[in-house]
Amino acid sequence: MSFDRRIKIAPSILSADFADFGREIRAIEEQGADWVHVDVMDGHFVPNLTFGPPAVKAFRPHVSTVMDVHLMIAPVDPYIDAFAEAGADIITAHVEAGPHIHRTLQAIRATGARAGVALNPGTPAEAVAHVLDLVDLVCVMTVNPGFGGQSFLDMTGKIRALRTMIGDRPVHIEVDGGVTPETAPLVARAGADALVAGSAVFKGGSVAKAGVYGENIRAIRQAAELATGQAA
Ligand code: DX5
Ligand code: ZN
Repeated sequence: MSFDRRIKIAPSILSADFADFGREIRAIEEQGADWVHVDVMDGHFVPNLTFGPPAVKAFRPHVSTVMDVHLMIAPVDPYIDAFAEAGADIITAHVEAGPHIHRTLQAIRATGARAGVALNPGTPAEAVAHVLDLVDLVCVMTVNPGFGGQSFLDMTGKIRALRTMIGDRPVHIEVDGGVTPETAPLVARAGADALVAGSAVFKGGSVAKAGVYGENIRAIRQAAELATGQAA
């Protein structure tokens, strides 16, 4: 099976109604989401607190696409099995979260989940050069992690460098933070294929007005596809 490099939209449920996750997840999937992005924050690696394995387990039955779990926690290793058992399809750890990213990625792959490695804005692409054979995804942060609704930081140079380093390996380049119909073409043209978007997908919509989610998702996808010549 050839590797799917088409543009994928992964709404971040950090911007969803926390009191209604089940219906919010189903609504974004019905409206065209390719993946569901789940931001796990520990109040230590990042200055915010969100979900643990029990919440991820509760989300699982509502996700029919791919549950893309972004771990902004340190340490990571003690929690890998719990997130895998909770049903994460992709588990992404930050290269800055500890001294043993190679071991962490091996441990994630050992659970059967797909492995991802994330880089904060201040971290160079070279930091992951020696683990590209251990991952299914590299996540380029385009905001300093911890909150939704922040302004986009231009990391197109880093994305292009990663695209070259990855070569023809089956590895997605995911971009996370400040992705909108205006910034999506920049990152897609640089080589990103998975676009996380929180505030840009959920703004103006709700479970009752889910059509707005669809419009927002299509606007981001079309802008990215147009920029990469993937538009139908
Ligand atoms: C930030 C998270 C992002 C965030 C994106 O630390 O990793 O996934 O939710 O939200 P927006 O798209 O609003 O920047
Ligand atoms: Zn994220």
